[in-house]
Amino acid sequence: MIIALGVDHAAFSYKDPIRTLVEGLGHTVIDLGTHNADSVDYPVYALKVAHAVRDGHAEQGIFLCGTGIGGSIAANKVHGIRAALCHESYTARMARTHNNANVLCIGARVVGMSVAEEIVTTWLTTSWGDDPRHARRLALIADEEAVSTR
Ligand code: RB5
Repeated sequence: MIIALGVDHAAFSYKDPIRTLVEGLGHTVIDLGTHNADSVDYPVYALKVAHAVRDGHAEQGIFLCGTGIGGSIAANKVHGIRAALCHESYTARMARTHNNANVLCIGARVVGMSVAEEIVTTWLTTSWGDDPRHARRLALIADEEAVSTR
């Protein structure tokens, strides 16, 4: 898969290790920044990741900021994006199997590197099961997205 990866300054130190992990799992990474630890506005980078997924440049996105909260709020404004904030592997697995989430958000000030690596590994090795119950629920969300433009 092609994975869009973005971070803000609070998660900059996580970017290269996560990139190495993702590539080690056989994926290609598009590095959307940020590219140093200078303070930036997290929506800029979360939206770059979300747009890459929305526009088909990447199949999945991974975004890390301090808490993961701002990034997930921003990414979920983008049409077709289902961003999930995960603090451990269980929610990462559920986000894929139940929610078919396509952007993973992690808080680098919340979880340590090894937990972040576990979350990413779980995310990338868990497939959407296409269960009709879950598909029906996602369709309800998509219906709302289609009419809720303002
Ligand atoms: C940056 O200080 C911080 O607000 C950001 O990384 C993130 O936690 C926002 O939700």
